[in-house]
Amino acid sequence: MRALSVSLTAALQALAITLPQPQPLSIPLTKRSSLRTDDGYVDPASIRAHISSTETKLLRGAAAFERNTGVALFSPSPAKRAEVLGSDPLVDDSNERWYGKIEVGTPPYTFTIDCDTGSTDFFLPGPSCGEACSGHEIYNPNSSSSAEPLGRTFTVEYSDGSMATGDLYTDTVLLAGFKASAQTLGVASLYSYELSSENFGADGLMGMAFESVSEYGANSVFQTLVSQGAVPEPVFAFKLASSGSELYIGGVNSALYYAPFTYLPITQQGYWQVAGDAIGIDGKEIVNGFSAIVDTGTTLILGDTSYVSQLYAVINATEVGGGVYSLPCDAMPNVTITLGGKSFALSAETFNFGKYGSSGNTCLGGIAGSDGLGDLWILGDVFLRNVYTAFNVGNFSVGFADLA
Ligand SMILES: *[C@@H]1O[C@H](CO)[C@@H](O)[C@H](O)[C@H]1NC(C)=O
Ligand SMILES: *[C@@H]1O[C@H](CO)[C@@H](O)[C@H](O)[C@H]1NC(C)=O
Ligand SMILES: *[C@@H]1O[C@H](CO)[C@@H](O)[C@H](O)[C@H]1NC(C)=O
Ligand SMILES: *[C@@H]1O[C@H](CO)[C@@H](O)[C@H](O)[C@H]1NC(C)=O
Repeated sequence: MRALSVSLTAALQALAITLPQPQPLSIPLTKRSSLRTDDGYVDPASIRAHISSTETKLLRGAAAFERNTGVALFSPSPAKRAEVLGSDPLVDDSNERWYGKIEVGTPPYTFTIDCDTGSTDFFLPGPSCGEACSGHEIYNPNSSSSAEPLGRTFTVEYSDGSMATGDLYTDTVLLAGFKASAQTLGVASLYSYELSSENFGADGLMGMAFESVSEYGANSVFQTLVSQGAVPEPVFAFKLASSGSELYIGGVNSALYYAPFTYLPITQQGYWQVAGDAIGIDGKEIVNGFSAIVDTGTTLILGDTSYVSQLYAVINATEVGGGVYSLPCDAMPNVTITLGGKSFALSAETFNFGKYGSSGNTCLGGIAGSDGLGDLWILGDVFLRNVYTAFNVGNFSVGFADLA
């Protein structure tokens, strides 16, 4: 017995010596969209709902930031703020989302999650959620030997009426194979209609922003991995594209970009917020100096309505209402976003947000006006699909590189 245990220990020691250090790993992402129909048409009303839901999500996080830190994250106009927070819960949230896999508990169960750099908290449907969570994989803390109740409840609201509420637990989480111990997670006892399986293809949501915008007052899964020394580098990176999309954990995937990165320090440790240089259209610079949040959970590029109208005026685009603009499908402009001194162009394919109306030759632009977030721009998928993006929690910076 003793001999056996000694040789086992020796074998384990030998293994520990020969096993390579954990390597950064990728999580393939799939995109689900309800903004566009299969034949490429888009309804401006669903874009407006998306703008409103993005404002609501970011304002909720800003309110959490204020509670957690005692200072304001940004100051949108109070009138707009009230209007946004009270907006119509019946409007459909037609976000495009990026889904990946995560394992939770002991033994680990696999769940599909929406990976969102525009929020911090992690939640899954729990056993008492019942009909509201049917069709989703259910996380049951009673079936996990590493789950611990925190004795606190949570409520998260991500968009108009889209909410989850339940109890907070800690448990072991495996992200791309890297282990986070005692990760705080919400176990939902209620999902709103917007999170039902027919509307939300993931089981839960995993935020990747900072603790200061957390409703739970807790670290994101990735921040936990970093604080526990579980990842080789404090970096994660996204490729968001029509195919081959992935979230890379613990570094960057050198096969997916052309060096060098252009790194920008984040200006507020809440969201991934940076100071950009300029936004131009067909060679005319319209915005000079701007603040932006880099958000994988937002589909479009959103900006202050007056700047957005000046941008579209250059190409004589028509506003179809609510900050959404149409233009001829075959005349997509050359939009450039300059960050850290480097100009990144939006491809016509990413700027063209889909067909609109009956002519078949009118399309909607991928930049839309938002009133709810003050002067902030939101760099969502319409921008992020043009670049490889690295998020560095070690030196609080975001890096952009050209896609390989
Ligand atoms: C989990 O265990 C607790 C304590 O034993 C019990 O009260 C609760 O009903 C269980 N929940 C489920 C969903 O099994
Ligand atoms: C952050 O670290 C990266 C390397 O991962 C480096 O290239 C970059 O310059 C650093 N950025 C800042 C703002 O310090
Ligand atoms: C926009 O309209 C103005 C006035 O009608 C015209 O002078 C200009 O050439 C148009 N620009 C484009 C890009 O169509
Ligand atoms: C955009 O730039 C390309 C070359 O960089 C040019 O061929 C094209 O005409 C430009 N499009 C517009 C609408 O200016």
